[in-house]
Amino acid sequence: MYVCLCHAVSDKKIRQLAVDQGVTDIRGIKKCTALGTQCGRCVRQAKEILEQVKPIELQQAS
Ligand code: FES
Repeated sequence: MYVCLCHAVSDKKIRQLAVDQGVTDIRGIKKCTALGTQCGRCVRQAKEILEQVKPIELQQAS
């Protein structure tokens, strides 16, 4: 599913960046994908996805 329509960023891409590359904050996601840099409507949903991914990432780190 696309989270950011302006830049074609999917929820899968956000999860992948968080888990594989440790990009767990919205600033990092913006930097990597340009998400939220146009209309900004996607930022809230992207933050929610990051919140879901964080516990998974912490499990993998330990
Ligand atoms: S939907 Fe992401 S910047 Fe517009």
